[in-house]
Amino acid sequence: MSKISDSILEEIQNRCDITEIVSGYIPLKKAGRNFKANCPFHHEKTASFVVSPDKQIFHCFGCGEGGDVFSFIMKQERMDFPEAVRFLGDKVGVEVKNEVNPSYSQAGSFTSSLYVVNELAEKYFKQNLLNQDDRQADLAINYLQKRGLNKSAIENFNLGLAVDKWDGLLNFLRKNAISQDLILKSGLVVKNSNGKVFDCFRNRIMFPICNSQGKKIGFGGRIWSDESGANSSNQPKYINSPETEVYKKSKNLYGFNQSKKFIVDKDYCIVVEGYLDVIIPFEAGIKNIVASCGTAFTSEHARLLKRYTHNLVIVFDSDTAGQEATLRSLDLLIEEGLNVKIARLEAGFDPDSYVRKYGGVEFQNLVDNANSLFDYKMNLLCLKLNKSVPEEKAKIAASMLETINKIKDAILRSTYIKKLSESLMVKEELLFSELKKIKSFPTGGNDISKVNTQKIYKMSKIAEKMLMSLMFEDGGFIKDLKQIVDYDEFSDPIAKKIVKHLYEQDLAVCNPIELFKQIGDNQINSFICNLLVSDMGIDNKKKSFEDCVRKIKKDKIQLQLDALHQQINKIKQSESQELMGLLKQYNELKKEQNAYETVSKKEN
Ligand code: UTP
Ligand code: MN
Repeated sequence: MSKISDSILEEIQNRCDITEIVSGYIPLKKAGRNFKANCPFHHEKTASFVVSPDKQIFHCFGCGEGGDVFSFIMKQERMDFPEAVRFLGDKVGVEVKNEVNPSYSQAGSFTSSLYVVNELAEKYFKQNLLNQDDRQADLAINYLQKRGLNKSAIENFNLGLAVDKWDGLLNFLRKNAISQDLILKSGLVVKNSNGKVFDCFRNRIMFPICNSQGKKIGFGGRIWSDESGANSSNQPKYINSPETEVYKKSKNLYGFNQSKKFIVDKDYCIVVEGYLDVIIPFEAGIKNIVASCGTAFTSEHARLLKRYTHNLVIVFDSDTAGQEATLRSLDLLIEEGLNVKIARLEAGFDPDSYVRKYGGVEFQNLVDNANSLFDYKMNLLCLKLNKSVPEEKAKIAASMLETINKIKDAILRSTYIKKLSESLMVKEELLFSELKKIKSFPTGGNDISKVNTQKIYKMSKIAEKMLMSLMFEDGGFIKDLKQIVDYDEFSDPIAKKIVKHLYEQDLAVCNPIELFKQIGDNQINSFICNLLVSDMGIDNKKKSFEDCVRKIKKDKIQLQLDALHQQINKIKQSESQELMGLLKQYNELKKEQNAYETVSKKEN
């Protein structure tokens, strides 16, 4: 990827006011020179998210996220850096020339013209549907209403109608000065071998498809019929735009642009099969929902979703649900590190018809009670095979191990092995050795812990600074802290030095000037000055103190956990004794850490 020039970045940064950008997402309240809000990146009740207009940065004292306007957009919109630059550039009218990404640059303005064509087509189809002087339109609206799609659904999902003509869209696009070349490249109009050019979608209800930014990239069109049954039914029920420069089926999920913020809020995503399986639940209030629309789920879909949540609940149509092929396709989600649950509908239903019959609340219920993929698969297998017959038990184990083998994370894998061992009453060691036979074992699949470690280090530094800030303000905190946190538990070396000194002096009041005199070197002085001038935004001192202590304790354990985790991921399956030992250690540490978690939950 080529680099974005500094001058462009600077220009965008100059034109973007961080408070304005942030307040486009969350309401900000003035607090002194800064603005405050409830952090959009973690759940909290007291505002610990601070935006500084002077420094053009944001920082959350709760979760430790912070940075400039680009980092905010990356985090908020789940974009990578070039995407965020482009996004902000668009907002403030700075053209990020084709520097961002070569694959963008080749397509360049061509891609954006394809968006325009699709946008125009959407407008055209919508006009057709809402044309009050047209009998076909009336009938189509009627059909939609019968299917539970009222005005709001039509409006929210921009539904339209392709009329029964060969050149309706073609003429509309021509009138809008779109070149023949571009019209054909959009895939909405095709040319046959005789050179005749005609509309691809005729006499269909149109469902516009957007990319995750909400740009129009294609359509799905459904045949429909009025009462007279005027439509022939030997055509496919749905046809979809062909793959184009902008529409890639393996990457796109229907409804995602609308549902993404709800997916983040709820921290899970419901995955269904069809257009109406998105629209009907969405209109009934279940908004964290997307559809793969006929194509099999791909790892690119998984990666897209992973930027928003790691938790999926798949709701299959009842006829798809039991198919082993479908189940196998879900293994790839597991490979991507997603937590997959499956909800099963009663026979004859899909999410659309289920919501229409029983309502959104019942559907939500079903989703809430979804089984883990593990349990789901296990149940299916146990329906077919008898686990008290040795050969069949072996078959169940083999099939389950195939899925478990896809799990990259050693800890998670071992949890499932344990479950399997319990439910089949087979020794864990035996299952581990079976697993080894399947194929080369994915080891070291998890780099998260490395990233994690850095992040934790950064976050606990904030808690440490806050504690020090408190000790400077009120010497009473020094005594309290001394009893529960050793100075060595501070991760920052300078902080360690200062805290050690504070503890040793047994001070009632801490005077920074005195401190400079006693232990001050350049580093320590600037550290303390920094502390004293930065407004840490501490409202409730006692609570902040306790929160920070817990944070330090938890993070310390987390670092140990991460180290252990890495060790476990590297271990060879043959050394299963050692693995067991490490796993045991891991689980005990985790329990210890959870104890801190429970305290903070109780308090909230
Ligand atoms: P379904 O056959 O389950 O249709 O296909 P549906 O969504 O329930 O549609 P309605 O309720 O009959 O209107 C699920 C999805 O598979 C894709 C579409 O995206 C559809 O929503 N599909 C289906 C096609 O692409 N082509 C087809 O011919 C059929
Ligand atoms: Mn349906």
